[in-house]
Amino acid sequence: MILKAIVAYAENRVIGKNNDLIWHLPDDLKHFKSHTAGKTIIMGRKTWDSLGGRPLPNRRHIVITRKKDFVAKGAEVTHSLEEAIQIAKAEEEVYIVGGAQIYALSMPMIDVLEITEVHAAFDGDAYFPTFNTANFELISQHYHPTDENHQFSFTFKTWVRKA
Ligand SMILES: NC(=O)c1ccc[n+]([C@@H]2O[C@H](COP(=O)([O-])OP(=O)(O)OC[C@H]3O[C@@H](n4cnc5c(N)ncnc54)[C@H](OP(=O)(O)O)[C@@H]3O)[C@@H](O)[C@H]2O)c1
Repeated sequence: MILKAIVAYAENRVIGKNNDLIWHLPDDLKHFKSHTAGKTIIMGRKTWDSLGGRPLPNRRHIVITRKKDFVAKGAEVTHSLEEAIQIAKAEEEVYIVGGAQIYALSMPMIDVLEITEVHAAFDGDAYFPTFNTANFELISQHYHPTDENHQFSFTFKTWVRKA
């Protein structure tokens, strides 16, 4: 199984505020969808809540929580990252989709980082953890300029952990 993380973060590493996303970038949402469609996604309970308590179409959802009685309709509930990875281990590709706590927890295990760097700084309360770029190879990057639908420019970057 290949473990990937997919995230959009700002210049100051902000990923969210008040348990929500901050920016609206339709082509980044498309990018997220094209990567994760048909795949398994692992998320923290707060990110699950930020989806409105219902799953995204056509994806297997695994939620991590410490709450023993937590029920998430349309998702599988686990109580540790290890358990989440264990129940997904037969899958070819699994995506960690946040939030800040779950990115930090999983970073040592991530094989591939699919990052959208948003070229602006934001006030927020959730951050993507720093990672050592020396441990990863940047295999692709693609710049998206601002346009009528995108208030901020951004760059898609794919980093693969070095062997
Ligand atoms: N920009 C992006 O790409 C992106 C992607 C995803 C999320 N976000 C943003 O990130 C923010 C949410 O991030 P967050 O860090 O606050 O929350 P989170 O990582 O989504 O979820 C945190 C929760 O996960 C559970 N958890 C954490 N560590 C655990 C452990 N070791 N064992 C068992 N359960 C554990 C706990 O749930 P319980 O409290 O239920 O025990 C904890 O409250 C939101 O603003 C969201 O919009 C941004």
